Amino acid sequence: MGNPLKVGVLASGNGSNLQAIIDGRERGELDAEVVCVITNRADAYALVRARNHGIPAIYLNHREFSGREAYDAATVEVLKTHGVELVVLAGFMRIITRVLLDAFPQAVMNIHPALLPAFPGLDAQKQALEHGTKLTGCTVHFVDEGTDTGPIIIQAAVPILADDTVETLSRRIHLQEHRIYPQAIQLFAEGRLTVVGRRVLVTGPHAPEESSLVNPAA
Ligand code: GRF
Repeated sequence: MGNPLKVGVLASGNGSNLQAIIDGRERGELDAEVVCVITNRADAYALVRARNHGIPAIYLNHREFSGREAYDAATVEVLKTHGVELVVLAGFMRIITRVLLDAFPQAVMNIHPALLPAFPGLDAQKQALEHGTKLTGCTVHFVDEGTDTGPIIIQAAVPILADDTVETLSRRIHLQEHRIYPQAIQLFAEGRLTVVGRRVLVTGPHAPEESSLVNPAA
């Protein structure tokens, strides 16, 4: 096996997805390793998680930059210094500019807590609950200039139960996020993702998926 893919993670908060990626690597399930974590919040728990695993963790305060482009240029510099090949947004609460996208063409991923294109933007779990859908879930996608609009790599569906609150639903979605984000990164590391227009083709052997999720169950 060759060298692991170098991943840079951008996070603003708790960082449970970052943890899932670190754990996947430590279990030997990922040909990818997190080489740096960048956050725009000094109190992001993601920083603690990174340091617990000896991963360089960098706080870039957006208030110290003149604008989004300047912030992204500084971010790119840190990422390039660490030899990053894939940028992973994991709860990063900032809009990304072309400066970052051009530095990592087709190599910036995001995870969103809904089945896109439904419920983009903030509070996706609340949006799904209020709309009354029976299924929602999470989506890993390549990032483009829009908000949650890039080509979709992988999705997992989650039922919405009658007594769900934003908290219970978010917990159930998070469990799936922690499965599919490492999976998407592994597919990328194996060179198995090809973007054709809006579609992401997954090449190579994978189990045919014939199951379906019906909610409420019959
Ligand atoms: C996740 O729900 C993700 O879908 C969204 O932000 C949240 C991050 O959670 N983009 P965590 O910080 O990884 O725990």
